[in-house]
Amino acid sequence: MRAALAVASECAPLVKTGGLADVVGALPAALAPEGWQLRVLLPGYRQVLSALGPAPAVMAQADLFGGPGRVLAGQAGGLDLLVLEAPHLFDRAGTPYLDLSGHDWPDNPERFAALSWMAARIATEGVGGWRPEVLHLHDWQAGLTPVYLRARGNGVATVLTIHNIAFHGLAPADRLWRLRLPPEGFTPEGFEYYGHISALKAGLVFSTRLSTVSPTYARELMTPEYGMGLDGVIRSRARDLVGILNGIDTAVWDPAADSLASPYRSPAGKAANRARLLAEFGLGPGEGPVCIVVARLSGQKGLDLLLQAVPALTDRGGRLALLGSGDRALENAWLRAAEGADRIAVRIGYDEALAHRMFAGADAVLVPSRFEPCGLTQLYGLRYGAIPVVALTGGLADTVIAANDAALKAGVATGLQVWPLTVEALAAALVRLCELHADRHAWARMQRNAMRHPVGWAASAPAYARLYEGAVAAA
Ligand code: ADP
Ligand code: GLC
Repeated sequence: MRAALAVASECAPLVKTGGLADVVGALPAALAPEGWQLRVLLPGYRQVLSALGPAPAVMAQADLFGGPGRVLAGQAGGLDLLVLEAPHLFDRAGTPYLDLSGHDWPDNPERFAALSWMAARIATEGVGGWRPEVLHLHDWQAGLTPVYLRARGNGVATVLTIHNIAFHGLAPADRLWRLRLPPEGFTPEGFEYYGHISALKAGLVFSTRLSTVSPTYARELMTPEYGMGLDGVIRSRARDLVGILNGIDTAVWDPAADSLASPYRSPAGKAANRARLLAEFGLGPGEGPVCIVVARLSGQKGLDLLLQAVPALTDRGGRLALLGSGDRALENAWLRAAEGADRIAVRIGYDEALAHRMFAGADAVLVPSRFEPCGLTQLYGLRYGAIPVVALTGGLADTVIAANDAALKAGVATGLQVWPLTVEALAAALVRLCELHADRHAWARMQRNAMRHPVGWAASAPAYARLYEGAVAAA
């Protein structure tokens, strides 16, 4: 087996705020058959340390950005882990990124610089005789790693995967010294971004290879519309960038054997789950499709647009159950929309088991994202026969076969796509959804197609293996 180390700020099932965790948690099992043994380096948040239990320290650092740190080695959640225990950075209540009042931790730059620093040390010195050939860096939280590696004169291969370009990992320039960064790197050709230190840009400029989580997003990232100020940097590395579609864990998301929902083997089995979902959300009667949304409530997800378009669904007897949390204004707007409406129900919170029951019971899942690097909920929808209605962007464009006339005639459609993403176009798609739902034959066909669509890692795992091998050859 060849050895690789993933470096990430979240990893399912131990700590998760979004799809990043699912992907980091799934890659080790997906890559093992490809001959790669993947260990994951994670911050020692409270829940990670308690899942790990007693574990030996394999590396120590007396002064890790303001306090001592140790790398613990062990297993948890079916994963081979290295955990960075550093209480002054990670032993706190809140999310991996936010304090209890929802603000970024002010020392986020140091917290994730520490993770990157230790990743560079592990690659240089090894732990317990184990040394990775490749570092797989995820998002800005691991972005400084190649800078620290260079400072050590270490040319180990690095692959940076962009899950979300919206987060740059910025720090004020006066932290250069505190973050132990080489001042000569603080230039527009290096990790300077308009007078700030950008951890993501550091990763984009200095990693051996780059990837993102769908082929369409790989192209979109190079445009000013989607590149969020980094499109120029990414264009300059176009030859080193590849888009590899995310998969989902088809054992965890298995309609035939779901321990968190009532399992079913065919679209026909959906009826009981649907009835339970309607009862659980207190949704009223109607003939139209039962739709769900499971998402972080952030501007990215386009749920403000859906709020305006939703009458097109409810006026036709459709119903909507939404589960999400995030932006307070959006949470409140959705709660208000559900007040006194018997066809809209909203749960604010994060609930993995409820999400499973929702996919099991839904006729359709709505994903009207403004941008979506890959998106996982449309994949759960396909697998559970909940027809995805998606914006034509990023991974959503790459995973759904739109029910246009040609696709319907050929019998290959799996969902609906909305473009351009406006309230009007979204409303029109919801009307179309109701029409298709009323056509029993067309609907059953789409559900069967959706449930057969491959959504696992079979195609993408070999692509990651080739990416690692290419990076090793180029480093
Ligand atoms: P992103 O990473 O941008 O949030 P993805 O679609 O890639 O989007 O992944 C989101 C993941 O988080 C999915 O596994 C989804 O089911 C889960 N998720 C999001 N919000 C919730 C919630 N409120 N409750 C349960 N699961 C959620
Ligand atoms: C990000 C993206 C999402 C993607 C996930 C996992 O959070 O927003 O589209 O599926 O990462 O790669």
